Amino acid sequence: MQKRSGLLVLAAIMLIAAAPVASLDWAFPGPGAQTAPIPAARIHRLPGSAKRFTEAALDDMTHAPDWYPDEHPRAPRAVLRHKVGACGYCHLVSGAGRTENAQLRGLPVRYIEEQVQAFASGARRSAGSDNPTAYMVAAASAVSPAELHAAAVYFAGLEPVRHASVVEATTIPRAVPADFLYRFDTGAREPLGHRIIEGPTVAAQHHLRDPHERTIAYVPAGSIARGARLANHGTATVPACTTCHTTHFVGIGGASPSYIVRQLAGFRAHTRNDPGAAPMQAVAATLSDDQMIDLAAYIGSRPAWTRAQMAAALAQP
Ligand code: HEC
Ligand code: HEC
Repeated sequence: MQKRSGLLVLAAIMLIAAAPVASLDWAFPGPGAQTAPIPAARIHRLPGSAKRFTEAALDDMTHAPDWYPDEHPRAPRAVLRHKVGACGYCHLVSGAGRTENAQLRGLPVRYIEEQVQAFASGARRSAGSDNPTAYMVAAASAVSPAELHAAAVYFAGLEPVRHASVVEATTIPRAVPADFLYRFDTGAREPLGHRIIEGPTVAAQHHLRDPHERTIAYVPAGSIARGARLANHGTATVPACTTCHTTHFVGIGGASPSYIVRQLAGFRAHTRNDPGAAPMQAVAATLSDDQMIDLAAYIGSRPAWTRAQMAAALAQP
């Protein structure tokens, strides 16, 4: 009996924990089914790179594979290697990020430091039950202030890029959760419904942590135009995003659409409580799931913002 009520309590806690975004489960794909292991000694190469990495090296979170060292300035140590997880392993040495984490290029130094500290303190949590954020928390807890500052300065100095192609669709290739995003199985199709489904255009490239990776984000038909209206003009309850992010959508334009949905969900559910979160919690408070989808579809399809546009926005009184 004791045990049974304990289990009930646990089940209730899990329900509460899962409740904020149950309807947005699709934005938090899990690790997926185990695939056939690749031999640890297998050597991988990428076109235009003189580097080669073994499967074992690509599996080692403490060392980031730097495929194209000529494409970025000299990276500080914590970006390339770190005892728990090198920033560049997940966010790539280029800082372009991957669908399941975040782009860091061009973000203000202070914002990067604040977010990492918020992951470490528990102030910023994921709105879903996905594991990638747990990895970020582990990395954040292990990095020293000096290492973090050097990494933040490095990422802040790079121009943001867009890597997702946003495509409106009603049916999509069958999407299978894999490594916290989706792999597309072109042998079958499924309805998209009210979801954004994002994954690499070439799954093998994703496995190799190729910084040239492109993703495709399928969004519902009509969502980009609806998102444009909402983002630029707002409604009686939702302020226009341009009020603060400017017409260039600094900080968010061209970001991974599924990342945008995860963050809006976090602000709405108050699982994202970092020091600067209050204005966004107010913005997200009345957003419906469909409005989040429309906003993410439109903003994700915008060109990436630039560091100069961010600097100008921050200089506004
Ligand atoms: C093992 C993977 C992993 C490692 C290593 C890692 N991160 Fe992250 N990081 C993530 C994930 C996943 C997210 C998105 C989490 C979320 O929003 O819930 C994230 C988010 C962030 C964000 C928030 C970005 C935004 O736009 O708000 C910052 C900043 C960040 N990481 C910086 C770093 C720095 C600096 C390092 C190295 C000290 C690092 N990360 C190491 C996985 C990682
Ligand atoms: C009142 C000003 C304000 C308005 C209006 C606003 N934002 Fe924000 N937004 C911010 C601030 C400030 C941040 C940084 C939050 C933080 O530090 O946690 C932010 C951050 C975000 C982020 C997270 C970025 C990241 O890298 O993790 C997203 C996504 C976002 N906003 C989307 C929107 C959308 C969509 C709208 C319109 C519906 C909007 N914002 C309207 C001020 C605003």
